[in-house]
Amino acid sequence: MVPAMSKTCVVTGAAGFIGSHLVDRLLERGERVVGIDNMVLGKRENLAPALGSKRFVLHELDINEYPRLLECLRAEREAIGTVWHMAANSDIAAGVNNPEIDLTRTFMTTFNVLKAMHELKIPQLCFASTSAIYGDQDKVLTEETGPLFPISNYGAMKLGSEAVISAALERFLERAWMFRFPNVVGGRATHGAIFDFIRKLRKTPAELEVLGDGSQEKPYLHVSELIDAMLFLFDRAKDKLNFYNIAPDGTATTVRQIAEAVVKLVAPAAKIRYTGGSKGWIGDVPRFRYSIEKLKKAGWSPKMTSNEAVELAVRENASVL
Ligand SMILES: NC(=O)c1ccc[n+]([C@@H]2O[C@H](COP(=O)([O-])OP(=O)(O)OC[C@H]3O[C@@H](n4cnc5c(N)ncnc54)[C@H](O)[C@@H]3O)[C@@H](O)[C@H]2O)c1
Repeated sequence: MVPAMSKTCVVTGAAGFIGSHLVDRLLERGERVVGIDNMVLGKRENLAPALGSKRFVLHELDINEYPRLLECLRAEREAIGTVWHMAANSDIAAGVNNPEIDLTRTFMTTFNVLKAMHELKIPQLCFASTSAIYGDQDKVLTEETGPLFPISNYGAMKLGSEAVISAALERFLERAWMFRFPNVVGGRATHGAIFDFIRKLRKTPAELEVLGDGSQEKPYLHVSELIDAMLFLFDRAKDKLNFYNIAPDGTATTVRQIAEAVVKLVAPAAKIRYTGGSKGWIGDVPRFRYSIEKLKKAGWSPKMTSNEAVELAVRENASVL
């Protein structure tokens, strides 16, 4: 087995929103990073700082082209200690209309990553999981909440991914971290409400159409804090299976607040038109509340509220989109 403390790691979805920030932070920590992305949503420009580093290499390939995945990982001169599996479909609505999207991009990528890890004896996996695995529940969500019945194919394929990772731990995997993200915001966004609203307003500055009635309310976490929390847990949580909710502490933001923040900065004269209904789309969990007691007990607390994270992300994205 490859030593877990190996300084070479793999980041899948490296050119995406969260993956590219993670690559930057891993490079800052002195790691050698092998990035993988098929560029379906990822952008090379997200990796502009990383591409200047001798310790970074990018492979533009689809994880589901398994022989190519194996070949490029096998070609690595140093043993790989950890895979950070960030690649997935991030367009939940698209996956509701076409379930194949989440089967291939969300579940099969996890399945093939695990297959390659088994073949190459890579011992550790960090997985980008999600609040969507919990489904639509009234109670505050703790890591022990169940039974879990997701309402989107995306949530279902993420829950399936957690399940195959758990089974891999029994068979060959040495250690895994499952990080259950809330809504994550920040610069380099490739999707999401802030991204959509800015794009829409650039096209039609007089009006912003918002799906739903604006009352959907969720916790939003800034990507910088998400990565802080993941690295903190990676360094300190050393159970065989480590699973944590990560979120701002008890605060949340409505879609109406996001729309108003974007309008204020991008097109102050625009009228906001709500399409109506309590959900943005089929499969959308309109509101959820996360407990982060387990994370705080481990020693990490967020600094920003949900609204502060949203306001910062609106400024970061408005300057480039
Ligand atoms: N952004 C959020 O709010 C949020 C919330 C919960 C969970 N997550 C999870 O975090 C991870 C990163 O999300 P993100 O917001 O950065 O999304 P993103 O779409 O920006 O990043 C995902 C990347 O994966 C790549 N990818 C997709 N399918 C691939 C394949 N078959 N082979 C290789 N690359 C592939 C895409 O090109 C993209 O660059 C995802 O697993 C997502 O499900 C994100």
